[in-house]
Amino acid sequence: MSQRRVALITGAAAGLGASFAERFARDGYDLVLVDRQEQRLQESARDLAAKHGVAAHVVVQDLYDLAAVEKIYARTRQLGVNVDVLVNNAGFHLDKLFRDLPWPPIRDNMRLLLDVVVEMTHRFTPPMVERGWGRVINVASMSGFMPGGVRLATYTSAKAFLIPFSEALNLELEGTGVNVTAICPGFMRTDLFVNSGLEDVRDSVPWFLWLDPGRVADEAVRAASRGKPVHVSGLPNRLILAAAKVTPRALLRERTRILHRSARATNGTSNGGHDRAAGGPKAALVTGASAGIGASFAETLAREGYDVVLVARRREVLEQKAADLSRRFGVRTHVLVQDLSERGAPDAIVAACQQLGWPIDVVVNNAGYPVNELFLKMPWADVDAALQILVRSVAQLTHAFLPGMIARKWGRVINVASLAGFEPGSYRSTLYSSAKACVIAFSESVDAEVEPSGVRVTALCPGFTKTEWASKNNLASGSVPEMLSMESDDVARQGFEAARRGSAVTVVGTAPQRLISAVFRLGPRRTIGRLLSNKRRKMIASDTP
Ligand SMILES: NC(=O)c1ccc[n+]([C@@H]2O[C@H](COP(=O)([O-])OP(=O)(O)OC[C@H]3O[C@@H](n4cnc5c(N)ncnc54)[C@H](OP(=O)(O)O)[C@@H]3O)[C@@H](O)[C@H]2O)c1
Repeated sequence: MSQRRVALITGAAAGLGASFAERFARDGYDLVLVDRQEQRLQESARDLAAKHGVAAHVVVQDLYDLAAVEKIYARTRQLGVNVDVLVNNAGFHLDKLFRDLPWPPIRDNMRLLLDVVVEMTHRFTPPMVERGWGRVINVASMSGFMPGGVRLATYTSAKAFLIPFSEALNLELEGTGVNVTAICPGFMRTDLFVNSGLEDVRDSVPWFLWLDPGRVADEAVRAASRGKPVHVSGLPNRLILAAAKVTPRALLRERTRILHRSARATNGTSNGGHDRAAGGPKAALVTGASAGIGASFAETLAREGYDVVLVARRREVLEQKAADLSRRFGVRTHVLVQDLSERGAPDAIVAACQQLGWPIDVVVNNAGYPVNELFLKMPWADVDAALQILVRSVAQLTHAFLPGMIARKWGRVINVASLAGFEPGSYRSTLYSSAKACVIAFSESVDAEVEPSGVRVTALCPGFTKTEWASKNNLASGSVPEMLSMESDDVARQGFEAARRGSAVTVVGTAPQRLISAVFRLGPRRTIGRLLSNKRRKMIASDTP
């Protein structure tokens, strides 16, 4: 068996993936090249093996396949290779309006850009740790630092996830000999723009912003060898991001309308702060309505005269709350017992609401639970469940209820994110902060698309809120000072007011919380990530001596 190190690259047939393959072959690595395009991949493997004298294995695999990662892993076992470097590069930009697409292509695109990266990392990193050496390079994007925008609902949100995910995992892996780097290129001369129908964007980008994929791959390899958690390619891009840090997010959200000629075409009329159905029946769906912020939302909406569908797992608690709301506010209530960490839950909720026949004008995607385990210690089923409740169910329920709202010319989707979504990745936040960053960018993107129709999507970002969360989060008692804690009723009330006004992102927190959050956003990510990690080690009861 060859003694050379092995690099596995997804999306290796073209563009940046091919550049990574060339770079690692030049450095004397054997290769495992993964892609769907068999002929191109075979040709590339033959060329690289002949030119650099390395072994180049080909794995033809469609990454949309739910079993793709297991199949790739099994193939590497069959080949008898240990993967030392994993490059999660495969990606595709679905250049369509989220609201116009059916769910399956959106689900597949999210899977390719996010789930596959997380699963590949979860699958291939532990053996690297056992051998004491390894590199994971996740190809994110500059857009992961930017707010969401038109036609970016899956792309920007997935890339926003990958940055803190890589930072947090890099911290989790300290001292193991393995490190994780998110590489953030800007515009690269690859086939992506033509394949995705993004010629209008390509034609509007000035020459000095274009990057050569070979150079990006070289920079990524150097950054990974130095253990950098994040690397932004190209000086102009680094300058743009420095400027973006001090530019209001609302202004940055407009960039896609400027870049995309087609995104400027709008239809419908915006209906700012007024309820569609001031006189008629109106209904709301709240997930995670049995406790905390969700229960407060259910009450806020019932008080406003909405019939409320309450979703969570604890039937008895939900039934009590539903009866209480009906009695106090004279509204209809309906209880749906669903576990949102299960893949079938959003479909079941949508079907039940259709049967009920209530016009759902407000959806509050709030259900969640803390995820602060070490990522590599979590069984895959737990990681998958966390992604399902925190990310996929939010996207699917948003998608399912938008058409009815658009048809009725009014609606509000409130996606409960968190202040943590603005933080760099830190110890034990590998999935949570990343998921919340993803939800923020996702909500902004969809909001930008639906705004002209009178429907708005709001990412609600609370700071610490007094709910059942603290006990579930295993926080040491007294670890959150009173001045940093909000009441859940205030979060729900302020959140609903912001959504009613049509705010795309709203931060709800005490004044000191907002200040800390601003410092986190402006400060150097690596330092802030370390500060947060030290703080969290002290806060989590099981980590305190
Ligand atoms: N509390 C904070 O400091 C804070 C800060 C920022 C953001 N947030 C976000 O706010 C949201 C609500 O948190 P909270 O503080 O109100 O927490 P909480 O008091 O623990 O309530 C969580 C709610 O989610 C439901 N839920 C949990 N797992 C579920 C599952 N698998 N399927 C269906 N429902 C599930 C729970 O109901 P059942 O147990 O009955 O299923 C409960 O109704 C979360 O998205 C959280 O990320 C919280």
